[in-house]
Amino acid sequence: MSTTRFLTGITPSGTPHLGNYAGMLRPAIAASRSREVENFYFLADYHALIKCQDPARVQRSTIEIAASWLAAGLDPEHVTFYRQSDIPEIPELCWFLTCVTGKGLLNRAHAYKAAVDKNHAAGTETDDGVTAGLFMYPVLMGADILIFNAHKVPVGRDQVQHIEMARDMASSFNHLYGSEFFTLPEAQVEDNVATLPGLDGRKMSKSYNNTIPLFAARDQLRKLINSITTDSRAPGEPKEVEGSALFQIYQGFASEEETGALRRQYEQGIAWGDAKQLLFERIDRELAPMRERYEHLVAHPGELEDILQAGAAKARRLATPFVRELRSAVGLRNLAQAAGGAKAKAARQALPQFKQYREADGKFYFKLVAADGALLLQSLGFDAPKEAGQAIGRLQREGAEALADLQARLQPFAGEQQALALAALQQLREAAEQG
Ligand code: TRP
Repeated sequence: MSTTRFLTGITPSGTPHLGNYAGMLRPAIAASRSREVENFYFLADYHALIKCQDPARVQRSTIEIAASWLAAGLDPEHVTFYRQSDIPEIPELCWFLTCVTGKGLLNRAHAYKAAVDKNHAAGTETDDGVTAGLFMYPVLMGADILIFNAHKVPVGRDQVQHIEMARDMASSFNHLYGSEFFTLPEAQVEDNVATLPGLDGRKMSKSYNNTIPLFAARDQLRKLINSITTDSRAPGEPKEVEGSALFQIYQGFASEEETGALRRQYEQGIAWGDAKQLLFERIDRELAPMRERYEHLVAHPGELEDILQAGAAKARRLATPFVRELRSAVGLRNLAQAAGGAKAKAARQALPQFKQYREADGKFYFKLVAADGALLLQSLGFDAPKEAGQAIGRLQREGAEALADLQARLQPFAGEQQALALAALQQLREAAEQG
């Protein structure tokens, strides 16, 4: 069996903070040390342009994020570490995928829907302030993943839908062009990572403006830690660890023994000032060596550039031949080359197909789409993928009878659509019989 390939992108918008470190960088770097897996980590700078149109900030953030990952221990010899915009094959694939992706699929993307809902609530035009970049974002993300045929994509919960969409694009393309060009990727959501509270006790997040930058200078780190919200209990009064941001941040860095010791000190009434000093020392102990490397890299961006160029060269050794193959598959060919395989592909292209997918509600759905992409049937949600699969199986084998029985599991459809769906099922059965 070939090794599992992990791929994940980090959008360079903003400066990484302690929450990003504990929740993402540290676990991802630890996982990347395994020799059993292949890792692709990249700076998603094309994605950054969707949110940020300040060129200096895009560049600054790219430097900071690249330096942070390297300083935190990412080994570019072992991990393929690159910048998205150094791989021109990605936007090219993005276009191929754009042409096999239903616009309706993108209408359902959470980020786009959230923007639309906001407009509706505000009584403005549906697409007010929505760029085509925001709308197309899932396709670019699909290209990021499919260009390297990643098996697993470690992401936050909010990104799972995008991975499902990438699967959809991959299977549409494979089907349409008659070969398994793309691996169907899977999201990997890590639920056990630490989420750190910020200075005010809410989740540490750029949008709450309550962060502690990962590589803040020592004095700055001390000052920020001193500003963490505590209650008014005096020294000597017992303190509670529940709901204490200070304690939770400490826990994100300390060993179990250290955490247990601080818990006892809370019970014994440690002064907040002393607890803050402990927290500062604990974090600084872990970060000081990294901070030195970080500061060096930020001061020598040429070194970062060299590392990223080497990563891009490594990545393109895969991407360039792959896109060459895809260009030929879609018909962008040297004209002197004989046209091949057109017949088999045409036959396959003409067939309707079932697609299975999972929605953000956690349920499993399927739909039947015509060769031209028209929606013929749409299921309601099933609790298990197996149930959805069984319903598809029945529709494939029994046609009209199954369609009648499964009414309650399908979205209502008009008579005319029913006739189209029946014809499609019939067509599928005939194709299956011909083998
Ligand atoms: N959209 C991701 C985020 O905002 C970043 C990203 C871009 C990504 N391309 C990707 C993640 C591909 C995983 C795979 O967090």
